[in-house]
Parts: sequence; C-alpha cells; structure tokens
Amino acid sequence: MAFDKKLLITGGAGFIGSHVVRRFVTQYPNYQIFNLDALTYAGNLENLSDIETASHYVFIKGDITDASFVMTLFETHRFDGVIHLAAESHVDRSITDPMAFVHTNVNGTVHLLQAARSIWKDSYEGKRFYHVSTDEVYGTLGATGLFTETTPYAPNSPYSASKAASDHFVRAYGETYGLPYVLTNCSNNYGPNHFPEKLIPLCIHNIIQQKPLPIYGNGLYTRDWLYVLDHARAIDLVFHQGRNHETYNIGGFNEWKNIDLVRLLCELMDTRLGRPAGTSAQLITFVKDRPGHDLRYAIDATKIHTELGWQPSVTFEEGLAETLDWYLTHPEWLEQVTSGRYQTYYQTHYLD
Ligand code: NAD
Ligand code: DAU
Repeated sequence: MAFDKKLLITGGAGFIGSHVVRRFVTQYPNYQIFNLDALTYAGNLENLSDIETASHYVFIKGDITDASFVMTLFETHRFDGVIHLAAESHVDRSITDPMAFVHTNVNGTVHLLQAARSIWKDSYEGKRFYHVSTDEVYGTLGATGLFTETTPYAPNSPYSASKAASDHFVRAYGETYGLPYVLTNCSNNYGPNHFPEKLIPLCIHNIIQQKPLPIYGNGLYTRDWLYVLDHARAIDLVFHQGRNHETYNIGGFNEWKNIDLVRLLCELMDTRLGRPAGTSAQLITFVKDRPGHDLRYAIDATKIHTELGWQPSVTFEEGLAETLDWYLTHPEWLEQVTSGRYQTYYQTHYLD
C-alpha cells in the first residue's frame, strides 16, 4: 500500500509517546507509523497492545544514542516526519545520574537531527521535525506570572538543562541548515499509563497499597497539570498546522500545590476504595526536599489557542476521574510495572 507519509515517533512506548502513537495510528490510516523506542525502564509495549497489530504500524527497538543505527534507519525508511519524544524524563533520576540525560536527551536528539538533515538535504518540501519538550526549560516562577514562548531559558535540574540543550540544537538546525521544525514546551501531564515514579501515579499506587505518600519539602510547590490525551491532541495539531520554526507552549490552565493535589487524590481514592474519609490522608509523609526544586510552573497557552484553536478538552475533575478509574480497573498494569514483569513483553510478544 502507498502511504501519504512515513512518520517516525520516538519514545512511543513511554507514557506520552504511547498516547501519541495510538492517536496517530487510529486517526491516520494513510500514514505508515514507525515507533522507535529503546525500551528503557520507562518503555512499556503493553501500553500499545491494542494497536500493535495495525498493518500501518511498525515497532522498532533501537537506541537514539546510536548514531550509525539512527542514520541507517533514516536511510532505509526515508521518513517524511519525525515526532521526537524519546528522553530520560524523571527529574529525580537526573539528579543521581546526569550523564544519562546528556547522553539520551542531548546526543540522541542531535543524532536524529543529523539523520533528518542528511536524508532531507535535497528538499525540505513536506518534511517536518517535531521536538517535544517541557516547560521546565524556563526554570521556576515565583508566586505570580506565566511562562510564555519568549520567557528566557533558565533550567535548574540536569533533566531540564538537557531538554533545554536539545531545544537549542533543534532551533540551531533550523537557523543553520534551514531544517523545518516545530517545538512545543508542555506542562506536567497525567493520565493512564503514567509510570509510578511520578507524583500522581506514585500516590495512586501507594494509596492502593496503603504505603506512605512522600511529599517533598513543605508541599507548596506548584505544577500545572494537563490530561495526556489533550497533549496528544495538541501534538497532532501542531504537527499538521503549526508554523515552521515556531515554538508553542501547551498547558492545562490548572495549577495545584502538591499537598492540595495529594489531599484531593486521597479523598477521591477513599471514596472509590470504600474506605472511611480521611484514611489515605494519614499516609501523607513530608520528606527531604528535592535539590534545586522549582517552586512553580504555569503555562500561558494563548499562542496555541489563538493560532490553532487548541485548549484542554477535559476538566481536571474529569481527567482525574478517568485516570483513577483506569488505574483501579488495570491492577495488572501496575503489578507488571512495579514487579518489572513488563520488561519481558517485547521478548514474548515480538521475538518468541
Ligand atoms: P517516559 O519516560 O514515560 O518515556 C520515555 C520513552 O523514551 C520510553 O519509552 C523510553 O524507553 C524511551 N527512551 C528513553 N531513552 C531512549 C533512547 N536512548 N532511545 C530510544 N528510546 C528511548 O517519558 P514521558 O513522560 O512520556 O515524556 C515524553 C517526552 O515528553 C519527553 O521528551 C519529555 O521530556 C516530554 N515531556 C514530558 C512531560 C510529562 O509530564 N511527562 C511534560 C512535558 C514534556
Ligand atoms: O513540567 C513538565 C515536567 O513534569 C516534565 O518535563 C517531566 O518529564 C515530568 O516528570 C514532570 O516533572 P516534575 O518534576 O514536575 O514531576 P514529578 O511527578 O516528578 O513531580 C511533581 C511534583 O511533585 C514536584 O514538585 C516534585 C513533587 N514530588 C514528586 C514525587 C515523585 C513529591 O513531592 N513527591 C514525590 O514522591
């Protein structure tokens, strides 16, 4: 079958990537969609078991830090578009192992840029490199104000510094070589398939297990939460309609202090689990703060709203209800992830 486009999505077995892959596979049967993922601890192919047999979907296990592998892959498939999500994504891990973040987030991104530039050198017509980034590149806000697309970069963690560096490389390839790109900086996502090392899924898991809920520092740190399917929808829109060489901020218009959010999760989970009100809140435990902890993130998403008509489609109440219900109806997913059994999925479903 002749496809309208060959699209490479990197990091498609991860949290956000799996929702992006599913969206593109279901919305665009006329595209051939390649999901390139190294299946690190954060990659879980079970996230995509519902679409893995689609005839226009191809999974490739591979590492973006392997330059010659990446170049050969591009030469073989001659992708028209790239949506790049593969990354080391957890701030706490970046504090203990910064080099892994430089390796994947910086070097890996540059290998992809090199390969795209190389195969697109004769014509950039119809080509697009989409880099998925984070609001953390802007550093921290005080009590007021919002991040806009012109807020100066001031990353504070090794993770955000590595993402900032990758953003700069993408922009530099646009300026120096004319590479067609779009870039988005998004706030905190939540939703199904979120790895339980991040605040919301960690708390859901620990509430179910009746384990302590660790709150860093005084718990007054603030994040702007967006439902992951709304992020995937924004990525679709920017990929197809965003202006070349532009950055768009994506956010939830939904700020929560960590402690208030965790108290809300406790209340909602007590109701769902049939536990007396106040049961889970007793698990809240204040622990040592994260070094370099950013006080507050909040996105001004006016540009993507005005130019592309995007805005969140679900309220936090709706998104959180969907999320909690998903975790409660998929205990096997949490079990597989927390026991490490998910890491055998590729072996048993793809190689046996
Ligand atoms: P994730 O950690 O859940 O998934 C990352 C995926 O990348 C995994 O499937 C992993 O196996 C893969 N990967 C890691 N190293 C790789 C390598 N060397 N080669 C190939 N694949 C590799 O991350 P996520 O939370 O889904 O985030 C996806 C992207 O979105 C990241 O670039 C992140 O910076 C960005 N982002 C995340 C959030 C958020 O709230 N989670 C918000 C804004 C932006
Ligand atoms: O803003 C976008 C970013 O959001 C993404 O770029 C990152 O990939 C993603 O991990 C996320 O980063 P955060 O550091 O904001 O997310 P995390 O879930 O790790 O933490 C959210 C807040 O909760 C933060 O203030 C730290 C705090 N926290 C986190 C954990 C894991 C706790 O208080 N206790 C915890 O156990």
